[in-house]
Amino acid sequence: MKITFLGHASLQIQLGSHTLLVDPFITGNPKASHIDTDTLQADFILITHAHQDHILDVESIAKRTGAVLISNFEIITHFQEKGIEGHPMNHGGSWSFDFGKVKYVNAIHTSGFPDGSYGGQPGGFVIEGEHKTIYIAGDTALTYDMKLIPLQTKLDLAVLPIGDNFTMGIDDAILASDFVECDKILGYHYDTFGYIEIDHDLAKRKFFEKGKDLMLLGIGESLEL
Ligand code: NI
Ligand code: MN
Repeated sequence: MKITFLGHASLQIQLGSHTLLVDPFITGNPKASHIDTDTLQADFILITHAHQDHILDVESIAKRTGAVLISNFEIITHFQEKGIEGHPMNHGGSWSFDFGKVKYVNAIHTSGFPDGSYGGQPGGFVIEGEHKTIYIAGDTALTYDMKLIPLQTKLDLAVLPIGDNFTMGIDDAILASDFVECDKILGYHYDTFGYIEIDHDLAKRKFFEKGKDLMLLGIGESLEL
């Protein structure tokens, strides 16, 4: 499993012959101006919630690539009305796709579309494929529900928001990594705009002091599991 950070909360995941995108928000992110949205490949686009900084490039990429969306029922319905194919899920539900298994799990956040319409409840994803399992938390507060994940799964990586203000900050993300029982963390949802700027060295040191490895990838950089 190869995971590429595309800035903010956007990820590309290569699983065998399949390419997944998560929460594509690239054209609206000046820090990601070197990522060419027009050539990004996607077989599936996973969407955690309906906020602009998670859906901005969904429509254009899906229409160009024919990618199938995976999200909650309300978000899928919203994009189906634009002629985009999707697989609706809801919290606690799992489905086996060609690339692997996805579970839509709880997040504590909000999920309105930019026009104010209802985007369902926000979530995160547990994705299993190629004998690796990762948790993508989405935008969320620290929540005890995270403790449910390791009851069923041994995670190889937890992707956690660390930018604070709109989501967990660093200290809560450290607790979240305890809750999900995973010491390998990819941080995301930081530095994109003023409210969520972080001190990288301080963040890494705080995780390190708890015996954990916080990875902060440059935009366009990848890690391999
Ligand atoms: Ni959000
Ligand atoms: Mn967000």
